[in-house]
Amino acid sequence: MKFSRRAAVAIVGVAALFGAAACGSDDDGDGGNTKDVEVFTWWADGGEKAGLDGLVSTFDTDCADYTFVNGAVAGGAGANAKQVLASRLQQGDPPDTFQAHSGQELTDYINAGQIEDLSADYKTWGLDTAFPQGLIDNLTVDGKIYSVPANIHRANVVWANTKVLTEAGITEDATTLDQFIANLEALKAKGVAAPLAVGKDWTQLMLLEAVLITDLGPEKFTGLWDGSTDWSSADVTKGIEDYKTLLGYSNADRDTLDWTDAEKLVMDGKAGYQLMGDWEAADLDTKGFKEYSYSAFPGNATAFQWLADGFVLPKGAKNAEGTRCWLKTVGSAEGQKAFNTKKGSIPARTDAVATDYPEYQQSAIADWKKGTQVPSCAHGAACAQGLQGALNSAVGKFSTDLDVETFQKALVAAASQFIKK
Ligand code: GAL
Repeated sequence: MKFSRRAAVAIVGVAALFGAAACGSDDDGDGGNTKDVEVFTWWADGGEKAGLDGLVSTFDTDCADYTFVNGAVAGGAGANAKQVLASRLQQGDPPDTFQAHSGQELTDYINAGQIEDLSADYKTWGLDTAFPQGLIDNLTVDGKIYSVPANIHRANVVWANTKVLTEAGITEDATTLDQFIANLEALKAKGVAAPLAVGKDWTQLMLLEAVLITDLGPEKFTGLWDGSTDWSSADVTKGIEDYKTLLGYSNADRDTLDWTDAEKLVMDGKAGYQLMGDWEAADLDTKGFKEYSYSAFPGNATAFQWLADGFVLPKGAKNAEGTRCWLKTVGSAEGQKAFNTKKGSIPARTDAVATDYPEYQQSAIADWKKGTQVPSCAHGAACAQGLQGALNSAVGKFSTDLDVETFQKALVAAASQFIKK
């Protein structure tokens, strides 16, 4: 495995990287070796890196003619990586492939003409029949498919420190918001510093989305993203008020923490719960933390809020054939197993064997089959990057002023700017 010098700089500081990317030349010191395949992700640590390493081991075997170059830029959910990527794409210096969420986030790159159509490769590799039809439909834009999904993640999961819960007398998973609030109250009474661990921007958007799934139900929640559900409705006001109540049980420094910092509060026994996507399963396992439990967010019932990580072939990639070998690996049965057993996610392919997976993923595979699928905006399935950015900045402001009316107005304004009915 090689680590691109560009990426190494990025981990030190995004600002520094803009300078490195700006030269637009091959700066990894190997004279532009076309065997290299630079894979750009934000999977730099913990379970995320373990998943990527799994995929790389399959690539090394299946694509021995090529060399994996790690272009990872650290920072939860791509906050830093996406800025760096946008700058490189703008300057005509794309990595050989980059991570992008299936759904609306992908349309940003398609509309900008930045990624290639992979429909013919899908047929060659048998991917047109390997993925479920619903996912293929979701990936198809004007008859073309532009990315290869590596997985399905679930966003609406609550992770808990079982020792902390037991000490507060909590023995059952909450299935309603009222029960959840009662449990948070019990943790507070027991002196737990942050009953609910919360991080910054997108992690807050995830929590708001989970509360809205509870208060609106899956169908109306999904309608928020296509304009059929009104963001100014009383249901949304109720959702915001419930969300505000939950924030009242969170750590005061939430606006400075990444998701892994909030996760650490749970691991250290300083928090009882955290709402987070199921990459947390792999991350806790990688960090050796065992005293945890998981359940669907209270009131979400069987709603499975999904997102999918995929890889693309950027226009102007230096090594398109090497990238094709990477993409074929990403879509293959072996690649999906090597990746997902370590990443906390479940395979996008339908031919996976559930018993190959750790306990959490086995439950997620069952839930994915029987649940109601709702998309995630915080992770690009439900909304494109413009709306996602506007919502992230609105939740950030609300975290400071807690003004329900102003917040709802900001949500309505963002929706009317970005959602075309
Ligand atoms: C998501 C991504 C996941 C996970 C998470 C936290 O957007 O889809 O795979 O990496 O960010 O970084």
